[in-house]
Amino acid sequence: GLGVAMVTAVAQRLLTQRHEVEQLLAPLRLSRADLERVQALMRQEMERGLGRDSNADASVRMLPTYVCNTPDGTERGDFLALDLGGTNFRVLVVRVMQEGIHMASEIYVVPTSVMQGTGEALFDHIVECIMDFQRKQNLMEQVLPLGFTFSFPCQQLGLDKAVLLTWTKGFSASGCVGQDVVQLLRDAAQRKQHVALKVVAVVNDTVGTMMACGYDDPKCEIGLIVGTGTNACYMEERKNVGTVEGDEGRMCINMEWGAFGDNGCLDDIFTTFDRMVDEKTINAGKQRFEKLISGMYLGEIVRHILLAMVDKQLLFRGKPSLKLQTRDIFQTTFLSTIETFSQNLQQMLQDLAPNCAVTFLQSEDGSGKGAALVAAVACRETSP
Ligand code: GLC
Repeated sequence: GLGVAMVTAVAQRLLTQRHEVEQLLAPLRLSRADLERVQALMRQEMERGLGRDSNADASVRMLPTYVCNTPDGTERGDFLALDLGGTNFRVLVVRVMQEGIHMASEIYVVPTSVMQGTGEALFDHIVECIMDFQRKQNLMEQVLPLGFTFSFPCQQLGLDKAVLLTWTKGFSASGCVGQDVVQLLRDAAQRKQHVALKVVAVVNDTVGTMMACGYDDPKCEIGLIVGTGTNACYMEERKNVGTVEGDEGRMCINMEWGAFGDNGCLDDIFTTFDRMVDEKTINAGKQRFEKLISGMYLGEIVRHILLAMVDKQLLFRGKPSLKLQTRDIFQTTFLSTIETFSQNLQQMLQDLAPNCAVTFLQSEDGSGKGAALVAAVACRETSP
């Protein structure tokens, strides 16, 4: 009688709701065909980025890094390392010895006002942190070779000269684009009357990560970051790199794949949620691939989905929640706790590239250790 009718009504409602949730999420699910198309597009953009004449129009920049060797284990010495471009700024001292690598580090906060203020204030802040670190570690008297992990797209003119092409993630400090960041660092050191900084290498965090893993396993030749932003680098045959002279050997290429799609080639996979997140960033229309997957944006995508569910009465009985309307309240780490990521990544890679045997190594403190190792490899090559 009545009981059965009620149960059926409830079941019916649940089914409808489930269907509506599925409908809401459908645009976020990529079919196999979609994925294969993205894969083909990525390859196409990579090839354009590598070509001398096509490079200017490619959304994936494929930047030469001047890193031509991975570590061979014979590197030795003490190094300073800087790591700028993630959530925090870090200063490290890295001791590369026969027994292994020892590091000590400090984390410094870069306030948003400094990230988005003037370049001078940003680099002054960096030098102040270095001086604080040197004081704490008793390193004031020494001039150690320094490796600088600077995780933004740069046109490298050599291992120790990197012109910033554009800021990404939350940075927008004025007066830096078009400048050599090593020079900006040296200028700040001079303003602060810091004795000397001996910068021997600037590297992207992907390169640092590859080098750090390469120290433990020389076969490692791809670096992958899925952090605040996302990017990858890999060792490429020099003859395929149309943008640098020379055909011999290999060179590490910083792909800057975060900008994949900035030329519109991914427009049809962006969802309403992706567009809402992009519009609220300081670089709308830029780094579109990065905004689909990386830590700075993924939590926001989820928050917008949850808001849409509330709106459709699928969540919180349709009662708007003030908290949920607060930007960045849902952190990407929550999502990593629930799902995301390592297993899905490996599974998908296996599916899409069955002929490639790829082993994933988690890098311990890749960008810090890696910067020191690039400095060490550089010192190894220049020392008699
Ligand atoms: C952004 C930067 C890139 C960096 C990545 C990961 O995409 O442009 O240089 O490697 O974030 O930190």
